[in-house]
Amino acid sequence: METKIKSVKESYSAHLDSVTDLKSLEEFRIKYLGRNGLISEMFEEFKALPGSEKPKYGKELNVLKNTVQAAFDVVKERIEKASKAAKDSLFDPTLPPVAVNTGTKHLINQTLDEIKSIFKRIGFSIHSGPEIESDYYNFSALNFPDDHPARDMQDTFFINKNYLLRTHTTPVQIRIMETTQPPIRAIMPGKVFRNEAINARSYCLFHQVDGIVVDTNVTFSELKATLVFFAKEFYGSNIKYRFRTSFFPFTEPSAEMDITCFLCKGKGCRICKQSGWLEILGCGMVDPNVFSSVGYDNEKYTGYAFGMGIERIALLKYDIDDIRILFDNDVRFLKQFNG
Ligand code: DAH
Repeated sequence: METKIKSVKESYSAHLDSVTDLKSLEEFRIKYLGRNGLISEMFEEFKALPGSEKPKYGKELNVLKNTVQAAFDVVKERIEKASKAAKDSLFDPTLPPVAVNTGTKHLINQTLDEIKSIFKRIGFSIHSGPEIESDYYNFSALNFPDDHPARDMQDTFFINKNYLLRTHTTPVQIRIMETTQPPIRAIMPGKVFRNEAINARSYCLFHQVDGIVVDTNVTFSELKATLVFFAKEFYGSNIKYRFRTSFFPFTEPSAEMDITCFLCKGKGCRICKQSGWLEILGCGMVDPNVFSSVGYDNEKYTGYAFGMGIERIALLKYDIDDIRILFDNDVRFLKQFNG
């Protein structure tokens, strides 16, 4: 014990003098002060000493330990300061910045924003509703007969007998009318879900924008004027358009709006399947049964409604041939549509 104490006393300070960096400092700590270091080793041996020797060596060991620790602390502080100063001196404020990869606004959101801003300019307010809907809002209140094929399991993701993932944004029309009296002038963008096979043309999730206007004396000609205004703002003022009769349970009469294909300008091509026309939305006059289901006087009020699929519009507009790429969130794809 005596010789060991002496050897540590004689060696530590020379060793500490040779410490110049964090690495050699750590080596010193492990050798002298570590859990298996020389001082701990001596404390272990101390336990086996005869009782008569313990007071003497106990005191000496404690003094030695504190002295080495104090000397170590002084050097540690000096070296840490020096290493921080060295790091700071490497800081060069004149270096050019590293580009941050910020991502980009999704093409679907850009399209939605554009549609919203057009309708806002002509007095439409913007509303949303739940993506999990009841059968009542998604179908019954919209005048779907009980045996309508759209209720079939093939199209709808049912959660249970009464709840489902909404298959269109049209149920939000019911929610607005239930809580608001006419006049109503609103659009309802949102996600919708269909239990369809996933392929280049269809996906289980997509976006729609529905719209509804209700007041006294609302006419089909106002419906046409509004949708023509929208189509010209969105697709360009030189497009041609047409309305074809169609069927939706919640509108009567119902129509679909086509515009001239923007790729071939109506001549016929792959995109428009050689017809020269592209269908862009469904619309019609609100069926009086729908007014009854929200408690509106269907003698007093008339209204029109419309609905469009956003992915379809974006795919057509940018000539993208696979809908699935819109759901990959690959920034390399999305960045191409910046701004
Ligand atoms: N909900 C219809 C669909 O998903 C689209 C639609 C057509 C909405 C006519 C409407 C409308 O509001 O009036 O296919």
